[in-house]
Amino acid sequence: RIAGPSGLVIFGVTGDLSRKKLMPAVYDLANRGLLPPGFSLVGFARRDWADQDFAQEVHDAVREHARTPFREEVWQQLAEGMRFVQGDFDDDSAFEQLRATVEHLDKAQGTGGNFAFYLSVPPKFFPKVVQQLKDHGLSGAPAGSWRRAVIEKPFGHDLASAKELNAIVHDVFAPDEVFRIDHYLGKETVQNILALRFANTLFEPVWNRSYVDHVQITMAEDIGIGGRAGYYDGIGAARDVIQNHLLQLLALTAMEEPASFDAASLVTEKLKVLRAVRLPADLGRHTVRGQYAAGWQGGEQAVGYLQEDGIAPRSTTDTYAAVKLGIDNRRWAGVPFYLRTGKRLGRRVTEIAVVFQRAPHSPFDSTATDELGQNALVIRVQPDEGVTMRFGSKVPGTSMELRDVTMDFAYGESFTESSPEAYERLILDVLLGDANLFPRTEEVEESWRILDPVEDHWQKNGTPAQYASGTWGPAEADEMLARDGRSWRRP
Ligand code: BG6
Repeated sequence: RIAGPSGLVIFGVTGDLSRKKLMPAVYDLANRGLLPPGFSLVGFARRDWADQDFAQEVHDAVREHARTPFREEVWQQLAEGMRFVQGDFDDDSAFEQLRATVEHLDKAQGTGGNFAFYLSVPPKFFPKVVQQLKDHGLSGAPAGSWRRAVIEKPFGHDLASAKELNAIVHDVFAPDEVFRIDHYLGKETVQNILALRFANTLFEPVWNRSYVDHVQITMAEDIGIGGRAGYYDGIGAARDVIQNHLLQLLALTAMEEPASFDAASLVTEKLKVLRAVRLPADLGRHTVRGQYAAGWQGGEQAVGYLQEDGIAPRSTTDTYAAVKLGIDNRRWAGVPFYLRTGKRLGRRVTEIAVVFQRAPHSPFDSTATDELGQNALVIRVQPDEGVTMRFGSKVPGTSMELRDVTMDFAYGESFTESSPEAYERLILDVLLGDANLFPRTEEVEESWRILDPVEDHWQKNGTPAQYASGTWGPAEADEMLARDGRSWRRP
């Protein structure tokens, strides 16, 4: 799968995402031979840069963050197609210059009129940029070529705002020209969920309410909000992560087998399951939000959220969120899905744990099974990528005693191939026009439909529970599961 003649225009090219992820991903793709000759990269920003300054920036970002080794000849070839356009988003002359640049690249580099516009900008600018692309004739593809819009999250902050944004974007770009980024879908381990479930016979027979007790989806981070106060405050953990990454993980874990492996079939199944998601009636008992207080993390003292630079002194933004969800369909009726995420937790780990019911009957003495937990299949999304199966086994010795053991699949041991970075995969897919790994409008809206009542409830009730940095979140989250006779895994 090698991209055909094309170019990428990045808006917000001076931002963090662009430097840390997008520029290195473009280089890594080039280095792996997956970009066409003449591929062009255009940066658009306010900074007063010439083409060479932009190329130098990309160079530095690549040297610092690329996954693959630096090769001068790859770099030189890539650098030939780099251009910079300076301007504000409401600056008509800058968009005229962008149009001229694109037309020039078509001739000089052979991009063939095929351009993707990557909006790596705060969402308040989406409408303006999209409108400018339309007004300056950039959104409409010349005959025989394509134009695509790539849009970063957050896509709205609730259902109403997401609908408004969708309407604006779709006024200019057709649905199959819009690629919404949820970078979790670009992760190798996330794509493997469907492979694990549907390429094997081992798991699917027990993947339902008859055998599964509950599912826990955890995305824990050890970092705080870093320099992102402006984005994060007022948004919080649930909107930042549950609305997109965790609900996508839930959809892939719970969906039915798609009719085939194409974007339309995948979205059909994901949507069906998202539409069946129900919140518990008593949100006070079954959701928890928290905010990190000062504490120790990795041997260092960490400040509390309210002491971070740029945070409103009495902010009630959640940096931890846990939610219990049900799925009203035949496969999952009565099986709770517990989702949790947080910043400044014990360590960085994302996993999906499918926890099975206990054996319906045990022929062993009750003392033999004292230490036995429940069977579990754990999809280790990151950082220690793989899958773990946990089950009981006889402890060696002269009596019958049982204990949990694990069987592990680790990417590093089973494969010599390395995983591409999520953004690498996603940028390549945009250039190829492959929409499998991109959430559709309806999925985004359905996810807000699920989350909005939780946010409303939190808005009206109390303040987030405090938890010390470096711990596993507020005690209330443990109590939430204890009330159901369960406990969170300690990954
Ligand atoms: C982003 C969130 O979408 O995902 C960040 O906005 C979070 O708050 C990040 O830190 C985590 O991504 P990853 O790939 O490091 O798990």
